[in-house]
Amino acid sequence: MDYLLANTPLEALETECLIVAVFNNKKLSPAAQTLDSLTDSLVTDILERGDIQGKVADTLLINYLPHATIKRALLVGFGNADKLTAKAFRKAVSAAANTLKTSQISSADCCLTEIKLEKHNITWNARQIVEAFDAPFYQFNDCKSKPDDKLALASINLHSLTDSDAIQTGIDQGIAIAQGVALAKHISDLPGNICTPTYLAEQALEIAGQHANLTAEILEEADMHKLGMGSFLSVSRGSRQPAKLITLKYNGAAKNSQPIVFVGKGLTFDAGGISLKPGAGMDEMKYDMCGSAAVLGALQAAAQLQLPLNIVGIIPSSENMPDGDANKPGDIVTSMAGLTIEILNTDAEGRLILCDALTYAKKFNPDVVIDMATLTGACLVALGRVPSGLLGNNDTLCNDLLSASETALDSVWRLPLWDEYQDQLKSNFADIANIGGRDAGTITAACFLSRFTEDYQWAHLDIAGTAWKSGDAKGATGRPVPLLVQYLLNRADAA
Ligand code: BES
Ligand code: MN
Ligand code: ZN
Repeated sequence: MDYLLANTPLEALETECLIVAVFNNKKLSPAAQTLDSLTDSLVTDILERGDIQGKVADTLLINYLPHATIKRALLVGFGNADKLTAKAFRKAVSAAANTLKTSQISSADCCLTEIKLEKHNITWNARQIVEAFDAPFYQFNDCKSKPDDKLALASINLHSLTDSDAIQTGIDQGIAIAQGVALAKHISDLPGNICTPTYLAEQALEIAGQHANLTAEILEEADMHKLGMGSFLSVSRGSRQPAKLITLKYNGAAKNSQPIVFVGKGLTFDAGGISLKPGAGMDEMKYDMCGSAAVLGALQAAAQLQLPLNIVGIIPSSENMPDGDANKPGDIVTSMAGLTIEILNTDAEGRLILCDALTYAKKFNPDVVIDMATLTGACLVALGRVPSGLLGNNDTLCNDLLSASETALDSVWRLPLWDEYQDQLKSNFADIANIGGRDAGTITAACFLSRFTEDYQWAHLDIAGTAWKSGDAKGATGRPVPLLVQYLLNRADAA
């Protein structure tokens, strides 16, 4: 989809469809008022009839406007104009996008940037409009012999007579985020027999090839062996696919500026290993690489926006399979940090590959390290599919992420990482066990990671509930790309 800035006055505009806002109590937005006067009070008449109430996410497509250069109009409800929240705004814009998805309209003119929100500026509006329109138009056709029907809508013009620069900034940011989200969704939706660790490495090289100041480096198992990554390599040993350690480096700031480091779990298929998972729904474990997909999406967006930051993305990638050479419950391995780990459950493999990647992260002298991983089913039990779990060893970093998540409408909720929980990881035979029992599974997983992140400011995002949808709408969501990019935008602003 193309997103363009437009500043033709509505009186002179020719368009297939004009998108305007209406509110409760038959209130019209400025653009809706103009449309009303251009159409002999058509909008007011329709509201009088009660055909649309103006509630949040109500939509009404007026398919024919007689004798007008504006051929159709889409009225979108935004509820009470004085109490409009960011979430309601996004919900209404998404409803507009979904309505147009089923139409034959190929280009629409959108007047929703003009809506006022208490806590946000017009750049935010434009960014959200682009993101909200892009999401429902994502299609996965790679593996279908006959692709899904092509959707008609191909371009959106964002209107404003003033504030052009602010809107253009929002459009650029929105496009970068939307393309990062689409990239993450696409890589994540690919099946495990196509999206292998080798495939992920090739993707990283390809993305790096598209930007002069983005580079990718791939470490092979032999390299990891030399680095002493005994924990990571133990997971990969049960798989016929070679593991890869992918590093993407984006240089947008001075050489001595400490990088923001993202680490993403890249388990391209998690069968559980010898602690085999049950069969039902196991296909969804192709999504166990969504953390790595988000890292790729965020780095691509940062490079596209040429943010004045240094950023490193680290992706440990492997499969977790049952095999004669796979980890066995009770096995003890030595991590790159030197800590020995008793593997009591081979299905708690994410932390085993992440711990070595987190130790490796030290080499980049990070300012902060943020890892993201589909790490625990327990996170779904605790928080459902609404927020990602957030845990960390630094309040400022956690608060920065919370605030970015609110702006991005990509929510997170912080869980405690208190010392009391560390006891659950005691092992009789090694320095640490890889599981902490039934209680507080998301927290004990983060406790495990925290043993490897003591030397820097670190936060962990458990995205097990948020990275993909199950059921009829099964598919990746591209989260937490919006959160990560918003965090980067905020850091760039502060720089
Ligand atoms: N990838 C899974 C976590 C997961 C499960 C994500 C379900 C999304 C949905 C992870 O590797 C795993 O298997 N975790 C175990 C940990 C347990 C053995 C301590 C889990 O959550 O059951
Ligand atoms: Mn697992
Ligand atoms: Zn896993």
